[in-house]
Amino acid sequence: MSKSIRLDRLLSNLGYGSRREVQDLIEAGYVVLDGEAVIDSDEKIAVTPDLPARMTVEDEPLDPPPGLVLMLNKPEGVTCSHKEQGPLVYSLLPERWRARNPAISTVGRLDKETSGLLLLTDDGALLHRIISPKSNIAKRYDVTLDRPLRGDEAKVFAAGTLMLEGEDKPLLPATFEAVSEKRGFVTITEGRYHQVRRMFAAVGNHVIALRRDRIGGLALPDDLASGDYRVIGEAELKLVFSYPG
Ligand code: URA
Repeated sequence: MSKSIRLDRLLSNLGYGSRREVQDLIEAGYVVLDGEAVIDSDEKIAVTPDLPARMTVEDEPLDPPPGLVLMLNKPEGVTCSHKEQGPLVYSLLPERWRARNPAISTVGRLDKETSGLLLLTDDGALLHRIISPKSNIAKRYDVTLDRPLRGDEAKVFAAGTLMLEGEDKPLLPATFEAVSEKRGFVTITEGRYHQVRRMFAAVGNHVIALRRDRIGGLALPDDLASGDYRVIGEAELKLVFSYPG
């Protein structure tokens, strides 16, 4: 069942302006639904996923309504935070989206120097379901190392006994597949602080580049350039849960 809300509230929650500002926009005839201008700010609008195909604001399709899920190809050098200084992942999204309520947040975090697949959503329940240890979602990272592999990394990571410095609980088993002397794919189901970098530090190596290319069964598409994002739908979202660790 779709939720209905006042048009001015819908637009203001989507970041189009204050209630007063969007009321002016509506009264001036800039908001069109199914081919007709809606000029009453208090008109109740059913918030359905097809709304962007039916509503325009100043001749542009309405932004995606709440329940938005995005995949972003995160570049190195941007931070997954709403608060920190310096370039933030949110600066890669349209400016208006940064004023949305509920706000769009990253689903977990990648380090500033990690690149690759990052999900963002304004759906708090979904976010928690993805990051919950109970969901046991496998995340794959393409790792480039400073020194040649020792050869026992896969065995050490799979054992479920590896203890990271400063921690008192061993890591869950992880898989590692070498692709060259200094490169491989590691798949983990946890999300501890700097986990992959610390795993390689624990086996005497140093990660020089880290890129996430999979979350569950969802792969980072080759045609999504660094810094680009796109909205994902039900089918792709299902893939996230389709490949537990
Ligand atoms: N492990 C890390 O060390 N960094 C990340 O960003 C993700 C996993």
